[in-house]
Amino acid sequence: MTRVLFVCLGNICRSPMAEGILRRKLRERGLEGAFEVDSCGTGAWHEGEPADPRAQAVLSKYNAHFPHVARQVRAEDLAYFDHIFVMDKENLWTLERMFPAHKGKARLLLELNGGGEVPDPYYGGLEDFEAVYQMLDEALEVFLQTQAP
Ligand code: 4NP
Repeated sequence: MTRVLFVCLGNICRSPMAEGILRRKLRERGLEGAFEVDSCGTGAWHEGEPADPRAQAVLSKYNAHFPHVARQVRAEDLAYFDHIFVMDKENLWTLERMFPAHKGKARLLLELNGGGEVPDPYYGGLEDFEAVYQMLDEALEVFLQTQAP
C-alpha cells in the first residue's frame, strides 16, 4: 500500500483537485487498492468544508469528483504518508516550520515534471481552476509512471 498526501493552504482548491485526479487515474488503472490518497491544508480556516464549488465543477467535468471534507495537516501525517506533495514553496516552508523533525519528507509536486509551483486559484476564475487541473493532471501522470511495478 502506497500512501500519498497532497498539501495546499486551505484544502479546498488545489490539494483536493490533486486528490480527485489521482483517485480517478487509479480507478482507471484498477489500482485503487494499492494506494491510499488524502489531502489537507497547512491552515485550518476551511476545516469541515467541502471543496470550493469551482474545484468541484472542474473535477466533475473530468469525472474526478469525490466527497471531500477539508482538514488541517496533523503531525501524524508526516510519518504516515509515503509521499507528501506540496503545491507551493510557501506551504512547504510552513510545513517545515510546523514539523521541523520531518524536514525533507515533503516535496513540491511539480518537481515530478520540471519544477515550479501550482498557483493558488482561489482569487481567480474558473479558467484558473482549469489551468491548475491540467498542471496537476500532467504531474500525476508522471507520478504514476514512476510507480509502475
Ligand atoms: P487552496 O486555495 O490552498 O488551493 O485550497 C485557497 C483556499 C482558501 C484560501 C486561500 C487559498 N483562503 O485564503 O481562504
